[in-house]
Amino acid sequence: MKKQSKRIGLAIVGAGRVGLIRGELAARHPAVDWIGIAEINPERAKLVAEKVGADFVTADFQELIARAEVNAVVVSTDEHLHVDPVLAAAKRKLPMLIEKPLATDLAESASVLAAIEKAGVDAVIGYTQRFRRRWLVAKEKVRTGSLGEVTMVTSRAFMNRLVAIDNYRRSDNPAEISPMVISGTHALDVVMWLMEAKTPAEVVAHSVNKALGPTWKGIDGTAYMITFSDGAVYHGVISWALPEIWPGAVYSLEIGAVGTEGVLTIDDTHRDIVLATNLVQGEGYAPDKRRYVDFLTSYPVGDMALGELRGPMREETNSWLNRVALGVPTQHATAAEGHNRLMLTKAIDLSARLKRPVKLPISPDDEKQ
Ligand SMILES: NC(=O)c1ccc[n+]([C@@H]2O[C@H](COP(=O)([O-])OP(=O)(O)OC[C@H]3O[C@@H](n4cnc5c(N)ncnc54)[C@H](O)[C@@H]3O)[C@@H](O)[C@H]2O)c1
Repeated sequence: MKKQSKRIGLAIVGAGRVGLIRGELAARHPAVDWIGIAEINPERAKLVAEKVGADFVTADFQELIARAEVNAVVVSTDEHLHVDPVLAAAKRKLPMLIEKPLATDLAESASVLAAIEKAGVDAVIGYTQRFRRRWLVAKEKVRTGSLGEVTMVTSRAFMNRLVAIDNYRRSDNPAEISPMVISGTHALDVVMWLMEAKTPAEVVAHSVNKALGPTWKGIDGTAYMITFSDGAVYHGVISWALPEIWPGAVYSLEIGAVGTEGVLTIDDTHRDIVLATNLVQGEGYAPDKRRYVDFLTSYPVGDMALGELRGPMREETNSWLNRVALGVPTQHATAAEGHNRLMLTKAIDLSARLKRPVKLPISPDDEKQ
């Protein structure tokens, strides 16, 4: 670790919801001297530049990344638009925080990972949940052997369909939107992080599409089972088709891990903090006026309180800025882990589509079946 902090000139590519959060946090970080923003939507660019106090604003991310002041980059464009800015930043050998998923296409994800590795840059992926105390405690207990050998893990991710509808609305190709790739990847990352010593060998999965299918041509949810080379089993379910009036506004997760010596269960359903009110609320990711009851804190990013975001994305952003400034180690997912998670979510979707088990890992050619 360095004693003297490096000064940071930060480029933020994509100033949407997440770009704004990262930018507001960076603006208060003591090592950040300069912030530039690239955003293709001019009104949004103006609004975020004002909120963040940006030093430079452009619609062209190439122009931003080429600026001499820039020595670190946040890539917070839409899920399928990370590739070009990441390649541009890798070319300049700049450290990066890339929002999940690394890419949405497996071949693109592989080529992005290759470019990052060839450039030797420190690129991490924003799997925000790794910054929550509960998942860190779980990680520590599994890592230090409290469960003995982990043999079975289960995860249940239940999401309000407001998130799914928002995603389908933003795309003209619903076949591109997969609950596993967009949202299931968070639960998958937590479990694979717990199981990181193990090698996934095969997956079998099934999807259903009766609630979101008719209107949105989308998938309601997917159930999958991954087997590991040592015989361990991970069973997971993601549904993002819960009704709009379900009190959880965004994400709820339960995980159970069983080992030869112990068991660990984690209830992250947010039922421990309930708000009921006659007044319309603006909670969560895509607020809806039919919701009068809320399991608070289900928005994975965090919550606004006293004018600031409180929660894991704050920890994650500040931690990454410290990593860049001081060289301190952090628990961010690496680019290789990001690629692995995309590969696994694609393999799960492939098994569901082919209706048969799929050997892991898969390559882009396997997807052409
Ligand atoms: N870690 C988490 O908990 C979490 C939560 C929400 C979103 N995310 C991820 O963050 C990313 C962004 O999500 P969001 O909700 O902020 O989306 P968003 O739609 O609010 O923001 C994306 C922004 O990128 C801009 N953009 C697109 N292409 C661009 C380009 N070439 N140059 C400059 N700007 C461009 C868009 O105009 C938009 O403003 C996604 O990958 C998403 O999966 C992560």
